[in-house]
Amino acid sequence: MRPSQLVSLLLMTAVLGACSGEVEDTRPGQPVKTRQTAFKEILRSFEPMGVMLRTNSYNADKFLALATDVVAKRDAPWGHFGADTNYPPTKATAEVWQQPEKFEQARLAFIAATDTLLMAAQTKDSKQLEAPYKAAYETCQDCHKTFKKR
Ligand code: HEC
Repeated sequence: MRPSQLVSLLLMTAVLGACSGEVEDTRPGQPVKTRQTAFKEILRSFEPMGVMLRTNSYNADKFLALATDVVAKRDAPWGHFGADTNYPPTKATAEVWQQPEKFEQARLAFIAATDTLLMAAQTKDSKQLEAPYKAAYETCQDCHKTFKKR
């Protein structure tokens, strides 16, 4: 094989590899893509609070704004888990549809934990934030353990 042929073979492999990981959501209204984007939006506000706490860069106003954003964004994903929406590219497990009550419980635990986090953020006392932040993070993980593929 000539070097130029080898290069184009490697390029092909890279391109095909990239495609196989990214299935398009072609359904009307894109329910899977919409809920995934909604979760990413939640993460976008949730994550920086953790960074602040871990790196001792707490800023009371920023933290409160982020906690407020999480509460504002937290209801967005759930309406897009319709009955027939378990299809690629979803990362949801079949348990979402098989155990709806357990899924709902996990959702409510997350809502309650982000309420508590927002109340703690309003105190603007960084010492009161670590436990509620961790508790809220655990509600993400708890739900993902059963309901999201790794
Ligand atoms: C009640 C269950 C539940 C809770 C609570 C929950 N998630 Fe998820 N999350 C899911 C499910 C199910 C998916 C997979 C959605 C899909 O692919 O269809 C998901 C997907 C995600 C994704 C991946 C989006 C993508 O396409 O890559 C991120 C990021 C995410 N969640 C972040 C969070 C964060 C951060 C929290 C907590 C602040 C959280 N989630 C709380 C169930 C939950």
